Amino acid sequence: MKAIVYKDYESGDIYFLKDLCNNLMRFQADRATIKPDVMASMNFENRLVPDFTGAERKYIAVAYDCEKPIGFAFAAVSKLKQEDISARPSWAQEISGLGFYPEDYDVPKTIGTYKLLFVDSKYRGCNIGGQHSNMIMKWLNGHEDIEDLWVFVANGNEVVGKFYEKYGFVHSHTVFKGFIEAYWQNAKRNKE
Ligand SMILES: CC(C)(COP(=O)(O)OP(=O)(O)OC[C@H]1O[C@@H](n2cnc3c(N)ncnc32)[C@H](O)[C@@H]1OP(=O)(O)O)[C@@H](O)C(=O)NCCC(=O)NCCS
Repeated sequence: MKAIVYKDYESGDIYFLKDLCNNLMRFQADRATIKPDVMASMNFENRLVPDFTGAERKYIAVAYDCEKPIGFAFAAVSKLKQEDISARPSWAQEISGLGFYPEDYDVPKTIGTYKLLFVDSKYRGCNIGGQHSNMIMKWLNGHEDIEDLWVFVANGNEVVGKFYEKYGFVHSHTVFKGFIEAYWQNAKRNKE
């Protein structure tokens, strides 16, 4: 393994991330105990592509070993409205409990979400996830209008919440009776 090189993208074709993204979706589906079928239905085409193309402001950090992408992280900015607070995906219609945001969350508000993070298993433990997270946090905190940052951890993978706590996130609430754990922090403006 040569030195790992990092690149970032805010637009363009992201097809080269298909395998890594699908590996992440499989990783989550294999561990999920609550609605694993919903996790298993997620893939590059229905998760990352629409999220990336649909967001006005988005950021992907990619780690390369030579020419080969071996890890990536994805974040985006969105404007939350009142209807987003009560919104539920079709598979969550019968599940009670809080959704993605607290019921009394003060909106409208611009938020940044750390959406996806994955490092190829052969490369874990070498601070590649840490480098990705530093890039993501710097980018998220570079937006003047972002008030809060969010990250959502899939059930079965709760241990990774400890990883996000290293980057300032604190547990906010349990989403859809344990399907996801939501972590939150106030945005901190980057100092010049
Ligand atoms: C989570 C993940 C991206 C971390 O990447 P990595 O390159 O192995 O992480 P790093 O080497 O930068 O680790 C940084 C620190 O976080 C800790 N850490 C890494 N993975 C962790 C995990 N899954 N849970 C808790 N802590 C973790 C490391 O012990 C290390 O701690 P230290 O700085 O005190 O030594 C990687 O394990 C992965 O891809 N996991 C599978 C997918 C996943 O869980 N993605 C997150 C979806 S929400």
